[in-house]
Amino acid sequence: MTRAGKTSMLPASDTAPSAQGAAATARRVTAPGPRDCERRGAPAGREDKEDGMGEERAKRGVSRRSFLIGAGTSAAAAAAVGTGWLGLGTAAARPLPQAVPERGRSTIQLRVNGFTHTLEVEHRWTLLEVLRDKLGLTGTKLGCDRAECGACTVIMDGVTVYACSQLAVFADGAEITTIEGLARGDDLHPLQQAFAELDGGQCNYCIPGQIMAAKALLDRNPAPTLEEVREGLAGNLCRCANYLHIQEAVLHASRLLRGEATP
Ligand code: FES
Ligand code: FES
Repeated sequence: MTRAGKTSMLPASDTAPSAQGAAATARRVTAPGPRDCERRGAPAGREDKEDGMGEERAKRGVSRRSFLIGAGTSAAAAAAVGTGWLGLGTAAARPLPQAVPERGRSTIQLRVNGFTHTLEVEHRWTLLEVLRDKLGLTGTKLGCDRAECGACTVIMDGVTVYACSQLAVFADGAEITTIEGLARGDDLHPLQQAFAELDGGQCNYCIPGQIMAAKALLDRNPAPTLEEVREGLAGNLCRCANYLHIQEAVLHASRLLRGEATP
């Protein structure tokens, strides 16, 4: 259930070629000999002599040009090693910090569809992951996984939330209702009846989220207008664009709930 870690170290065999290549490049640039300078038309030490400051350095065979080139390249190489890009020996010898599982877990209690569950969860787990993967309540769907589509909508303490963007630890002690909590045995909830009767869904992937958003709406406003239905379901997208049927189904469900219509 856990997500794969995004940070990983490449094995030494994968990084060795680039490290050797970078080291070789650094050697080539940082240590120019007299021939390197001659090829560029500048005898070794000539610039230092020209500015009157480098006679001593010229004697040692270090020109200002070679010093600057060498310093720049060495700094770049050091930065690359420091960030782990090159995977050179020093970086490989220093392991990246690893997660210590027992330090990132807590025990929480959720009341879901009338049943109390005590669970140990990792702090990074979302409510959606716990509902689907730990409690087996797969009616709540994963769509965008970024609080945009509403496929994961559940009701938490009377308010709709995107379960994909709600950490499970933050739901500790909450009362949660999912799509599985609506029917009573074989008796569908009026919203489910209305969606079935009026073809509220096409592919149906978004429908659990739509129905949960509609339930929260009807709980606080039993007789909504069409405009209020649109507003109440504004956070739920339907990729089949079945919006007219969805809105009609919600209005029909409100009539069923008020006894103004029969299934
Ligand atoms: S899956 Fe949660 S909002 Fe899309
Ligand atoms: S019915 Fe297909 S996404 Fe809504």
